[in-house]
Amino acid sequence: MKLQKTLLLLVTGLSVASLGLAGCATQERDFEATAQTPTATPATQAQERPGDVPYVPTPQPVVDAMLNLAKVRKEDVLYDLGSGDGRIPITAAQKFGTRGIGIDINPERIQEANANAQKAGVTNLVQFRQQDLFKTDFKEATVVTLYLLPEVNMRLRPTLLRDLKPGTRIVSHAFDMGDWKPQQVQNVDGKTIYLWVVPENPPANLK
Ligand SMILES: C[S@@+](CC[C@H](N)C(=O)[O-])C[C@H]1O[C@@H](n2cnc3c(N)ncnc32)[C@H](O)[C@@H]1O
Repeated sequence: MKLQKTLLLLVTGLSVASLGLAGCATQERDFEATAQTPTATPATQAQERPGDVPYVPTPQPVVDAMLNLAKVRKEDVLYDLGSGDGRIPITAAQKFGTRGIGIDINPERIQEANANAQKAGVTNLVQFRQQDLFKTDFKEATVVTLYLLPEVNMRLRPTLLRDLKPGTRIVSHAFDMGDWKPQQVQNVDGKTIYLWVVPENPPANLK
């Protein structure tokens, strides 16, 4: 009887001890995982709603031509509305030292763009924000780039004309803005790009 009791105590003690060890190991793993989570890249959140445009990147020669058409310089502040993998603001930062802000509704695109900015060594100049472009304040822009869709350009047009400073350049890949006639149109490798300059007093029919 006494032997049985001793054995029972021994077995129970061992189980409690091993549970405790397993708990410690789990805690240690959790701690390691937390400690290794990178903090330099801003966190993204769940996508608030589906985007208005699918992701299709602008080919690099077209990106270069868009920046040249807008005569982008170091002093500019460039906003890419629907920035995808970030190539337009990143290229402007690399080539001209321009400060750029990319807006995208999709958290995967924001993560990709942040990783690309790191690789390109321009995180001091570019910032990517997970936002709906229809809710974004882009008044400070001196250059706006777009690769959206015709109806999205048209929905955006009144805000562009109301909020942007006169003289701000807008460049769009592939799609125009209806009866707002562009100042220049170029063909690059079979793709069309358009340039508008925000006027001092936009005609009433454009607003
Ligand atoms: C055609 S891609 C253009 C990407 C990049 N600008 C380029 O030219 O390579 C359009 C991007 O707009 C984003 N998008 C769609 N609807 C949006 C919205 N309402 N607000 C912000 N981004 C949006 C998509 O996630 C996608 O990355």
